[in-house]
Amino acid sequence: MRNHDQREDKELERFGVSMSGRLLRKFDRVIRSKGYRSRSEAIRDIIRDYLVGEEWARDRSQVVGTVTIVYDHQTRELGEALTHLQHAHGGAVICSTHVHLDRHNCLEVVVLKGRPADVRAIADRLVSTRGVKHGKLVCTTSGSRM
Ligand code: NI
Repeated sequence: MRNHDQREDKELERFGVSMSGRLLRKFDRVIRSKGYRSRSEAIRDIIRDYLVGEEWARDRSQVVGTVTIVYDHQTRELGEALTHLQHAHGGAVICSTHVHLDRHNCLEVVVLKGRPADVRAIADRLVSTRGVKHGKLVCTTSGSRM
């Protein structure tokens, strides 16, 4: 099985896709505006994104996520709460970066690794911490299965 997978990695396979001209023209417009030079490259990225979603749907997968949060550092005890949360989940927190955006606002990016449910739970707690103005989890994987 492994040999088969490795061979597949190296050889490109071609396949035909049928769809309405209207749908294809819309697709072409969107991928051109995003900078794709070929449908193949765009379709490969869409498939990889789909596979990442599948990894995240599996309980036992190891996934990677980045949480971006924006908050006012003058909000009482917020900085401590966010730091405490990251220390409490030290096994899953790979690193974090803090940027002082202006006099009040900070942006923090936390890189997490672990089971999907754990990564999601930590991200949810960071984003829902009182005083966090905006936050989002971006779900990805190590890429080793793509
Ligand atoms: Ni700051």
